[in-house]
Amino acid sequence: MPIWARLSARSFFRDPVAFVRANGDSRGVLHVGAGRDRFLLLRDREAIWHVLVDGRESFQLGKWKRKSRRFVGEALLGLDGAEHRRRRQLLRPALDRRRVEALAPSILSRVEAAQSGWGDGARIHAHREMARLSLLIAGDVLLSTNLEPEATELGEALARIMAAIPSGEPAEMATIDEAIGRLVAERRRSDQDEGDLIGALVGSDLPLPTVRGEILAFLLAAIDEPPSALEAAWCLLAGRPEAEERLLEELDARLGASTPTLAERGRLPYLDAVIRETLRLYPPVRLIDRCPVSATRIGGARVRAGSNVIISPLVTHREPSLYESPAQFLPERWLSTPLRDLPRGAYFPFGAGAHACIGQPLALAIMWLTLASVGRRWRLRADRDASQLVPRAPDLRFTLERR
Ligand code: HEM
Repeated sequence: MPIWARLSARSFFRDPVAFVRANGDSRGVLHVGAGRDRFLLLRDREAIWHVLVDGRESFQLGKWKRKSRRFVGEALLGLDGAEHRRRRQLLRPALDRRRVEALAPSILSRVEAAQSGWGDGARIHAHREMARLSLLIAGDVLLSTNLEPEATELGEALARIMAAIPSGEPAEMATIDEAIGRLVAERRRSDQDEGDLIGALVGSDLPLPTVRGEILAFLLAAIDEPPSALEAAWCLLAGRPEAEERLLEELDARLGASTPTLAERGRLPYLDAVIRETLRLYPPVRLIDRCPVSATRIGGARVRAGSNVIISPLVTHREPSLYESPAQFLPERWLSTPLRDLPRGAYFPFGAGAHACIGQPLALAIMWLTLASVGRRWRLRADRDASQLVPRAPDLRFTLERR
């Protein structure tokens, strides 16, 4: 039977895992909320799978997702049903795994260039550096454009929009609209066919505001999620030196003097395990929301049409019923338990079902190539007690130590 608890939404957002631990040991549905801000948090993994995958036709995107429409208009991430399927078909080839893998050399050269200004003993703001890197890579892969000359201005404008999304307050859009508008106009004039995102959009019959919004949505994902994941990986590695050592040994032994390529992916199991474990403990997308189109039952609970149903990769990935020592960073767990042996709905950093992350191949390529390339040359030392590190803290910095 589900546990129902009317509890403060604010404390949930502050620390969803602690909130769940304190407010119910059921694996069903937790009813959170005060005033108008009510929602149901699903903890049962079968219920999660039902909402995201098997029963998805009965659910629409939730109201948080719809909020982003104010900034990105009719972009993929805010569409439902047939329109969503059509858009996904249009954009998928640009983010296809084979296409991303073919572009790995250009991704790697961006990763290496990002380290060219680094020096022994320097302090870096990893999230900011990675956000710039990820934006440049998105420019290359999605727009076939070198965004370097305008990266600072664009990065700042994107960060301001990102910060405004949760509250829905207006943000300055002129810089972004102008930059994207220019790129679209240039592509319309040329007969370039790069198989990229902007090409798919410009070649479609979508109106200009939709094309602009779609590009903006992808750039926002690029500056936020891979950087958060990389910063989290470095926090976790700094907090567990044996894991860091094992990773660096694997990189040295398997890569030798050669530069990393994605073809080596299968030969670096510990690096894969570090990435998987990082995305378990600190999934950059912590909350996914959906809304039932008519009254239904989920995980044994009656749910009204239009309710706010929340699924949290963060909470699920730390369920003691699914993971041993759930709060600990143990990449080794993935060497003994491959992903395919986990029950469905237990691990989903990239979501699941029709809306599962379309950027996953690009995100994983960025993470893999960056951790491999940086690990060959540098250790990132925490400035404070490494066990207290929290990714996304605004003042979090690392000191570089040349290997
Ligand atoms: C480690 C990095 C990333 C993580 C963990 C991540 C996670 C997710 C998750 C959980 C969803 C599903 C949301 C839902 O079901 O409501 C999603 C959707 C999406 N992601 Fe990612 N993402 C990452 C990187 C990226 C990148 C680099 C891009 C693009 C450049 C991207 C673009 C998108 C888009 C457009 C959607 C919406 C897909 C749809 O609704 O069909 N993501 N992502």
